[in-house]
Amino acid sequence: MNNLSPAELVLVKKACEITRDALNYAQTLIKPGISTKELDILVEKYIIECGGRPACKGYEGFPATICSSVNDMIVHGIPSFQTVLKEGDIISVDLVVEYKGYHGDAARTFPVGKISPEKQRLIDVTRECFFKGIENLKVGHRLGELSHAIQTHAETNGYSVVRELVGHGIGKKMHEPPNIPNYGKVTDGPLVTDNAVLAVEPMINMGRKEVWLVEDGWGVVTRDGKPSAHYENTVHVTKDGIEIWTL
Ligand code: MF3
Ligand code: CO
Repeated sequence: MNNLSPAELVLVKKACEITRDALNYAQTLIKPGISTKELDILVEKYIIECGGRPACKGYEGFPATICSSVNDMIVHGIPSFQTVLKEGDIISVDLVVEYKGYHGDAARTFPVGKISPEKQRLIDVTRECFFKGIENLKVGHRLGELSHAIQTHAETNGYSVVRELVGHGIGKKMHEPPNIPNYGKVTDGPLVTDNAVLAVEPMINMGRKEVWLVEDGWGVVTRDGKPSAHYENTVHVTKDGIEIWTL
């Protein structure tokens, strides 16, 4: 796990603040009739105005600033003028900002207009999974305590946890060790070290856990076609507790 200097942490924190602000801005744009590409263009402009760099763009060939994943798409949706939001949809927006070489990463699932109570509950429980997880993220404890808490909360509510995608360390690079699964035993994983920056990101399916990769090689959808939600923040863990930097 990383252990950045105070000066480096200032830059991570700034990247996280731009990430947070860009997600809040995205939320104001989400309404029936907007396409995910229009959303992407506006959010990219916003991040650049804030002095950040959209770090997903060009990452392993990903072509956009935001990942925009609608309904049964779990993550990594490529924005498109053809994907037009409509009342009742849910959209997960995931983005990473780089600021002077350091990264912040966060995701939210937003409702489009009025959504069903079932979809709202999925969004709410996915957010709760994140908070149950970080309640169990403690220096000197196994990372598996967080993973187990997330899985337990999701499954207690009748949902399933995606296995193929996990959270991660973050800092100088978007993806750093350790992997942070959203499932597992309390005895799994490494011991959490002091001063680590981590991206914790439950991806929770309303139905079954299995996924498909779509033809563009990026989008990941549920096999059963049921909706999925995502909630992610970049957090700083110390002996004194946890700070959430993208909230
Ligand atoms: N934000 C994603 C994550 O949590 C990464 C996006 S993949 C990219 O790991 F290729 F689009 F950058
Ligand atoms: Co992430």
